[in-house]
Amino acid sequence: MKINSAKYLISSAQIKQCPKPDRPEYAFIGRSNVGKSSLINMITGQKALAKTSATPGKTQLINHFEIESSSAEKGPKSRWFLVDLPGYGYAKRSQSERARWEEMINGYLRKRENLVQVFVLIDSRHTPQKNDLEFVSQLDHWKVNFSLVFTKTDKEKPAVVARNIQAFLDKLKETWQFLPRHFVTSAEKKLGRDELLQFIENCNKE
Ligand code: GTP
Ligand code: MG
Repeated sequence: MKINSAKYLISSAQIKQCPKPDRPEYAFIGRSNVGKSSLINMITGQKALAKTSATPGKTQLINHFEIESSSAEKGPKSRWFLVDLPGYGYAKRSQSERARWEEMINGYLRKRENLVQVFVLIDSRHTPQKNDLEFVSQLDHWKVNFSLVFTKTDKEKPAVVARNIQAFLDKLKETWQFLPRHFVTSAEKKLGRDELLQFIENCNKE
């Protein structure tokens, strides 16, 4: 898939402020600082489309980006939304900020009617984390379609990355019969871009 254009559209605190749900939508979520905004920039090929930061908690609202792509040089165009969401598990957030986050995100995930797929980003440098496992269980419970995206693979030895990914999948296997699809990425090295775009293209066709 070729991205013809990617534009920032709007930041919303509630689902009713989000753009009209008239095209497929793909959302990126995961712990604070896991690399959501960086991955959006990597897959759209625009360095500063989504704001990134070394300090966790940068993204605070539901951010919509309008994407136009085509499957081949002169092929038909598809239009879809990419959504950058604020992360969970940010220790410095107050109780009330956390409650607000939960209300905003849960409302969005459960009610956004054009939401085709949620990409849950997991930091490949770490062994399975409780909040990530709880979050994916919640999505499963709500019957939200999601895939896993392991991030920052350039920052750790390949053997450690492979072991952490396997450990996460093994944890899920303890309770689930079917494992979600997973992608292995590095925004820094532009790894996993083709696989993610191919997957989105296939979903857009359905
Ligand atoms: P919040 O919006 O705060 O929840 O964070 P986020 O998940 O959007 O993370 P963001 O993309 O802002 O990245 C956090 C930090 O990790 C930044 O300093 C990025 O440069 C860095 N980072 C993100 N992805 C990668 C990667 O694949 N490799 C490396 N080496 N650094 C990365
Ligand atoms: Mg962000």
